[in-house]
Amino acid sequence: MTHVQVAESAAYLRARLPVLPEIAIVLGSGLGPLAGQVQDAVSIAYAEIPHFRMSTAPDHAGRLVCGTLAGRRVACMQGRLHGYEGYAPDEIAYPVYVLRALGVQALVLTNASGGINTGFAVGDFMLIEDHINLTGKSPLTGANDAQLGTRFPDMTFAYAPALRDKAQAAAQLCGLTLRTGVYCGVNGPQFETPAEIRAFRALGADAVGMSTVFEVIAAAHCGLPAVAVAMITNMAAGVLMQPLSGAEVNEIAARRGVDFRRLMTALVEKL
Ligand code: HPA
Repeated sequence: MTHVQVAESAAYLRARLPVLPEIAIVLGSGLGPLAGQVQDAVSIAYAEIPHFRMSTAPDHAGRLVCGTLAGRRVACMQGRLHGYEGYAPDEIAYPVYVLRALGVQALVLTNASGGINTGFAVGDFMLIEDHINLTGKSPLTGANDAQLGTRFPDMTFAYAPALRDKAQAAAQLCGLTLRTGVYCGVNGPQFETPAEIRAFRALGADAVGMSTVFEVIAAAHCGLPAVAVAMITNMAAGVLMQPLSGAEVNEIAARRGVDFRRLMTALVEKL
């Protein structure tokens, strides 16, 4: 991943898009339908964009949907890449740099997560205040491209406080409760063991998922303010004495989809 490749990807998109996005939104598992609300949408498959990788996860369409949402110019990543698909962390993070190069001023990330905090319930929304990267990996491993960012990026405000305030204001406007907490990023694809979940809770995690951390590291690296909202699609392993399934994740994501889209639309309006 180099700034030359990023510039090539951005140039391709600039030539194809009638208007350039100001806000980027990454849609997580089951949350893709938000892209259907984008007006005057131009959809571009990842496969068509130079240097982009394709998404193989079920329910991840693998296209960039650009247009207008709540009066703002947005680029929605309908489908993201995950480590469990076999992608390297820098491949997963790559689109963040391209969106930054296109002129995007804020990155909104969404995901489906397992609830670790026993005060949470299935269907809750959690504003990510911070993360614990337990993947053991970073998209910044290897030579640093100084044109993309600094060697040792600061993560203190990676989840931008000003954007978090706007997310809370948006939730209030929608009459929705937005819980807050620490997101623990893991590789997957297997769900965690109950012992792992107890360990993550002891570490200070409130939710767990298989995405987001690499994109947020990349955003911090290239100076792009990020805000992330997790949908608690299930309680994590062992919290309730019942098995977990990917089908459950998608079912809850679909059921809570309407409120989730209202929240995202209200947030985009405020950004
Ligand atoms: N664990 C990890 N990733 C997840 C979960 C979970 O329980 N739910 C949704 N994504």
